[in-house]
Amino acid sequence: MTLEMETQPIKRNAGAAFAAIPTGAALGAEVRAGDLRTLDDAGFAYVLEAWHAHSVLLFRGQALSDPELIAFSRRFGDLDWAPVQENGRRFVEGMPEIYIVSNVKVNGEAIGSLGDGEAAWHTDMSYLDVPPKASMLYALEVPPRGGNTSFCCMYSIYEALPSDLKARIEGLKIKHDGTYNSGGYVRQGVTVTGDPRTSPGALHPLVCTHPDTGRRLLYLGRRRNAYLAGLDLEESEALLDELWSYVARPEFAWEHVWRAGDLVLWDNRCTMHRRDAFDPGARRIMHRTQIKGEARPA
Ligand code: SIN
Repeated sequence: MTLEMETQPIKRNAGAAFAAIPTGAALGAEVRAGDLRTLDDAGFAYVLEAWHAHSVLLFRGQALSDPELIAFSRRFGDLDWAPVQENGRRFVEGMPEIYIVSNVKVNGEAIGSLGDGEAAWHTDMSYLDVPPKASMLYALEVPPRGGNTSFCCMYSIYEALPSDLKARIEGLKIKHDGTYNSGGYVRQGVTVTGDPRTSPGALHPLVCTHPDTGRRLLYLGRRRNAYLAGLDLEESEALLDELWSYVARPEFAWEHVWRAGDLVLWDNRCTMHRRDAFDPGARRIMHRTQIKGEARPA
């Protein structure tokens, strides 16, 4: 099967016609593959191919229980546990693989992490030596407005850099900070050093080659407390600001407006994402899984 099916959908998966419909932005496609609980191996191969082509996939109208979300996620590989956030690891009871992103409180206690504020551009858990290769976010309850999630394409951003800038960053390594999460909160148990050179985190190559697509990409992780190894702090800050000015350009991004039942799968190696704030009086409950990554070449 190939993605030519975009124009010629075929009948598959309990009668559902398969199609991958590009968003029209730099990345992302809506995949129509029917009920993901009944996806057969050929259907899964289609999804994988679409994922490599578009980096972010949206599946609408799903009805996954937590074990079914785990089962679908495991088709991509072993799963990580939920990350440590401002209030520890918030996961579904008995299922540490399902991280809860939510502003909902029960008896005064948050059931999840990240609250209702903005979440800044980031790659999931890239403060680890081996970050997850993919994440899936499943919408259980969404606010009537706000809380949209945007994704940006790190292939396109790298390709857009002028050649002299590409030459300057070739071979550099970047520190991905583990102090703060995307909501700006300090992760539970982490001591703030105030210096990106000594803060906890992991070093990764700034320019990477995607192991499946072979495309080159810029691997920034997150802006706060980032540091380009071996450079003076001022020089590192200036170069990072220059690179991040490309992330801010709308032509590299796609914004998703959630509906309950949406499942979004993103490639955590070649995309970043951010979230808009939303009304604190509204409820938003999302369940997220992360598929373990493989070690990157040094
Ligand atoms: C996340 O960073 O995984 C959360 C994104 C969101 O809440 O939309």
